Amino acid sequence: MTAGPVRVAVLGAGVRGHDHSNRIRRSGGVITAVAEPDDRRRERLAAEHDLPPEACFTDWRDLAGHAAGLADAVLITTQDAEHAEPCVRFAELGLHILCEKPMAPAEPDAARMIAAVERAGVIFAVLHPLRYMPYTDLVKRLVREGRIGRIVNVQHLEPVGAWHFAHSYVRGSWRREDESSSLLMAKCCHDLDWLAYLIEAQPVRIASFGGLSHFTKDNQPAGAADRCLDCAVEADCPFSAPRLYRSCFGHRDRENWPLSAVTPTATEEALTEALATGPYGRCVYACDNDVVDHQVVALEYGNGVTATHTVTAFTEMSNRVTRISGTHGSIECDGRQVILHDFRGHPAVTATTIDVTGHDGETLTGHGIADHGDGDRAAIAAFLTAVATGDTGHIRSGPRESLDSHRVVWAAEHARRTQTTVRFEDRPSTPEAAAAVSG
Ligand SMILES: NC(=O)c1ccc[n+]([C@@H]2O[C@H](COP(=O)([O-])OP(=O)(O)OC[C@H]3O[C@@H](n4cnc5c(N)ncnc54)[C@H](O)[C@@H]3O)[C@@H](O)[C@H]2O)c1
Repeated sequence: MTAGPVRVAVLGAGVRGHDHSNRIRRSGGVITAVAEPDDRRRERLAAEHDLPPEACFTDWRDLAGHAAGLADAVLITTQDAEHAEPCVRFAELGLHILCEKPMAPAEPDAARMIAAVERAGVIFAVLHPLRYMPYTDLVKRLVREGRIGRIVNVQHLEPVGAWHFAHSYVRGSWRREDESSSLLMAKCCHDLDWLAYLIEAQPVRIASFGGLSHFTKDNQPAGAADRCLDCAVEADCPFSAPRLYRSCFGHRDRENWPLSAVTPTATEEALTEALATGPYGRCVYACDNDVVDHQVVALEYGNGVTATHTVTAFTEMSNRVTRISGTHGSIECDGRQVILHDFRGHPAVTATTIDVTGHDGETLTGHGIADHGDGDRAAIAAFLTAVATGDTGHIRSGPRESLDSHRVVWAAEHARRTQTTVRFEDRPSTPEAAAAVSG
């Protein structure tokens, strides 16, 4: 329990750290410290939250030395491979932890995190915003009320979007597994967590297929250059960086994302410089990317439900789309609309369309895709309430549940790489991971 607003220190003031800090403030929390090596990012966050110089650090390790008096909790929004160390360190210091997904790219690190938070008895939540979307509440309520009978099968699509994929997974921070995570971990640990939450069971068998099919040197068009600014065929390329990033000018949301990842200054001059020298000006066929650009996962759950999950670069960027087939009806939903079919309305199946309307501040459409349809705000608010009241019931996925959903991702990746079906129920966690959790 805390007296007064929950005080949060931000570790990593990048795109997510910045946006979540505003959500924390809007949810009644207060940002009291920041650690961020990039001067502009650190100073921007400090200015927005009135932080004195003594609350601003260039590295989370330095902040750790002063954390006790500064904060009740930390928000971990460093890059994927830099979640485990600060989590363990701040848990030891007795601070509560809100961690961006993924917990960690590798299972032993995620297991160490769980061991540390359990040992310290601190509150820990992974940001799984899809669980907190009002849309998810609606879909779960319809299922629980038996409106489609018993769930038999779920088809789920994560349409990443062509430009988003090129930005994040070909040119950007999540393009290489050795520097971040697999695509499935980076983009879809949400989805596999959400499916288990919806189906209310864990997978028992998992298969997966996919690969990097398009964003390779072999597919570079004749006449293309290795940078868009030098390219003779850029105008006809669907992945033109100048076209994408110039289109962000004048749009507040898009200047924040994706443009702020490319250049801290939203001017033509700064963008041209970034495209000429930085990673985001590279030809998508001449990058050092290795994550897959399409993948399917087939799952069988402990309660007999089957599901497929597809993630693909080759779509318009839009909301996730799900079809849930039940014994008495089906649901088609996409974050904006839920269409309920009742088979008992024959000869014509009765269809009811429910529009999911916006909630305070963040709508479920438009930029709601990036905000996970209010799920980010709701997940953050739930964490703050848990810390303020000491009641972890507000958090929809506990530490071990989050570890379990990450383990589904590692199992799916194992299945894809080894071209096998993984029997998840039999799959022990790695010895290091098991030792870390028990130890
Ligand atoms: N939940 C989601 O849907 C979602 C979406 C995007 C990103 N993410 C995750 O959120 C995390 C952050 O993503 P992002 O897009 O904000 O990345 P980002 O690169 O914009 O931000 C990370 C920040 O951490 C800072 N940093 C690096 N070393 C540090 C250190 N030692 N101490 C303090 N700060 C340090 C970097 O300078 C950078 O500003 C990643 O793990 C990412 O996978 C989640």
